[in-house]
Amino acid sequence: MDNDPWYILGAGSIGCLWAASLCHKGESPRLILRESSYQQFNKRRLSLKLSTPDQTSRFAVDIVSPETIDSTINRLIVCTKAQDSLSALNSIKPHLADNCQILLLQNGMGSQQTIRNALPTQTVWAGSSTDGAYLSAPFEVHHAGQGQTWIGPLSNQQRSEQGFHDLCDNFRLKVSPCDPIEQKLWEKMAINSCINGLTALFDCRNGGLLDNGEKQAWLDQLIIETSGVLAVLGIPATALKDSVYGVCQITASNLSSTCQDARKGRATELAFINGFLIQQANSLGVTVNSHHQLMDQLNAIGVKTGQPATASPLCI
Ligand SMILES: NC(=O)c1ccc[n+]([C@@H]2O[C@H](COP(=O)([O-])OP(=O)(O)OC[C@H]3O[C@@H](n4cnc5c(N)ncnc54)[C@H](OP(=O)(O)O)[C@@H]3O)[C@@H](O)[C@H]2O)c1
Repeated sequence: MDNDPWYILGAGSIGCLWAASLCHKGESPRLILRESSYQQFNKRRLSLKLSTPDQTSRFAVDIVSPETIDSTINRLIVCTKAQDSLSALNSIKPHLADNCQILLLQNGMGSQQTIRNALPTQTVWAGSSTDGAYLSAPFEVHHAGQGQTWIGPLSNQQRSEQGFHDLCDNFRLKVSPCDPIEQKLWEKMAINSCINGLTALFDCRNGGLLDNGEKQAWLDQLIIETSGVLAVLGIPATALKDSVYGVCQITASNLSSTCQDARKGRATELAFINGFLIQQANSLGVTVNSHHQLMDQLNAIGVKTGQPATASPLCI
């Protein structure tokens, strides 16, 4: 398995960041594009540009499509948005080894559990990352914020000895193991459920939520409700308010991904953030009126919140 190529599904910001970082480590990853995107290129090997505030590097990387994959996939990193991950995986399913190791890097929750249920023989890992990356052009990725990524196998599945442990060493991205990973996914999702949708509703930067006024009152209410869900699930949430306020302060000048998607009229990942939280609250009998109101108001102004994730309640 060590000599098997890494496959990366989705050549957006995170897919290009991970592909370039694997090249930097001496690996030769293959980027899987949609068939239609792949047909637009007449080359099968492209130059991938990685820029950081300090330097720019270029790497040659192979691109493939579901039709042109010519080897069994033994390890795969899925870098699509949450709402696209299952259909993207279905497009390459015939190429997946029965014991394929699959790492999902989607924000939010629900999509990971759906995929774990859809792929019972493969080992599904999930990651939670605070890295910040964006594309300035196709295959030109900017690693704007060096963060931390935690990875671990999802619970309730057969595990194999193999995995992604080798990512933690000599890698330009900071990757650490975390087991159970669900706790990290919940922590990040909880913070995002308070900040992201609200920034889209008020069309403001993260710091704008701390206005000592209407926005902050909404924010506080969302924090209280989210903490209530975490408490029933037995997830420590005493510091949620500090975490949310801390993120708003540290990233005060940032536009959340949800606010960016809303501005561009693109589908957001909110079904996997607030949608997932609402679904879990319903099944636990916890009231989350402010989250409902937020989603209703976002829908009313035309923000694409998407279909609620379908997932069974999660154990940790
Ligand atoms: N960017 C960040 O800084 C960051 C940080 C932490 C976590 N994340 C999370 O990482 C995930 C990916 O985010 P991103 O920013 O990289 O999104 P992105 O730039 O929109 O990239 C997603 C890529 O997936 C591709 N894709 C969708 N369906 C596909 C399919 N069926 N086959 C092949 N490719 C397909 C998209 O292609 P099309 O354009 O053709 O649809 C796009 O290139 C999200 O869950 C996000 O929340 C992002």
